[in-house]
Amino acid sequence: MLLVRDLAQLATPAGSGSPLRGSALADVEVIEDAFVLCVGDTIEAVGRMRDLRSLDGDVVEIDARGLCAVPGLVDCHTHAAFGGDRVEEFSLRAGGASYEELHAAGGGILSTVRATRALGEEGLRAALERHRDWMLRAGTTMFEAKSGYGLDKETELASLRAIRDAGGVPTWLGAHAVPPEFADADAYLDFALAKVLPEAAQIAEAADVFLERGAFDAAQARRYLEACRDAGLALRLHGDQFTESGAIPLAIELGARSVDHLEATGEDGVRALAASDVTGVLLPASALFLDRPMPPARALADAGAAVALATDFNPGSSFTESLPLVCSLAATQLHLSPAEALSACTVNAAHVLGRADRLGRLAPGYRADIALLDAPDWRYLAYHLGGRVVSRVVLGGELA
Ligand code: NIG
Ligand code: FE
Repeated sequence: MLLVRDLAQLATPAGSGSPLRGSALADVEVIEDAFVLCVGDTIEAVGRMRDLRSLDGDVVEIDARGLCAVPGLVDCHTHAAFGGDRVEEFSLRAGGASYEELHAAGGGILSTVRATRALGEEGLRAALERHRDWMLRAGTTMFEAKSGYGLDKETELASLRAIRDAGGVPTWLGAHAVPPEFADADAYLDFALAKVLPEAAQIAEAADVFLERGAFDAAQARRYLEACRDAGLALRLHGDQFTESGAIPLAIELGARSVDHLEATGEDGVRALAASDVTGVLLPASALFLDRPMPPARALADAGAAVALATDFNPGSSFTESLPLVCSLAATQLHLSPAEALSACTVNAAHVLGRADRLGRLAPGYRADIALLDAPDWRYLAYHLGGRVVSRVVLGGELA
């Protein structure tokens, strides 16, 4: 047993359903002077210290005076399986070069493809584990990560295995970019769907596509996603990052779990998404990193859409592993309250990963994943901009 005791506050999304929408998104339960009791990897009880009964058996205690507990954070959109970096490109962008121009000139994503292929499977595993540890230190106790920097059979499958073995949720981003050995997107998709999908579908839980000018168009995205769905994968889309190219209607028609980015989404897209079961995944760190407009998060939340928050952690468009930073951006740039931000990167993110029955809340029966904040009020999660707000993490009932 593990007892986290004398917490200044414990904050958790209330209720038990998912995804949370509308006013329920802000429905966070706060317990002052609180404890969390874990048995094995599961939460047994939460409550006020004065209601804690005496415990029999071996109990490890964490003295949490001055700390607040929130659920371990869930990052439902990362590209953490990558080699190399893009610091040179970052410097060029600071001088005015655009992300899309660098991509069109064979840099951008394709430069990370070269660096990732060069790592080999062991190198890739080491890189991913390093990134996973960065995420854990920032409070992320479950992450999704996409392949998509291999784009050949060997490196795509190695990426998915590495993600699974590091404890993450693997997504096959087989349609991220067209690698140089293929003449065009259709020729590449012929290969990817015939040669990679059968084995990728054995490892990945979902498939994802970059639906955007300069990447894959709506017809190509449809072809890729339908084949992936037929192979048993859940569906995700990168959509409306730079242009509205049909991602939202396609996501709704195909019953995708999520459409992610949405920086270019207009009013019709907001309305359509809000009326659907597709979650909108907001990536404000990516919009900031690329100096793009922020997604219409407030309009989406007000219209009743299911929204989640994620880092988009990757070397090119969002080099940050920090969900607390994303919560700060949610409050300052997206105009979501700290409570809405918390729900969006816990229970709603877990919903996108098909895990909201076990992850995203501090309540009996949920996995014992806890982020302990060095703060007198849990809202420091969003308030402490760029600070070291997460001081300790409990992962599966053990101090990580
Ligand atoms: O979500 N937009 C496409 N993919 C990633 C960026 C990948 C990269 O630049 O390496 C994203 O922003
Ligand atoms: Fe992404």
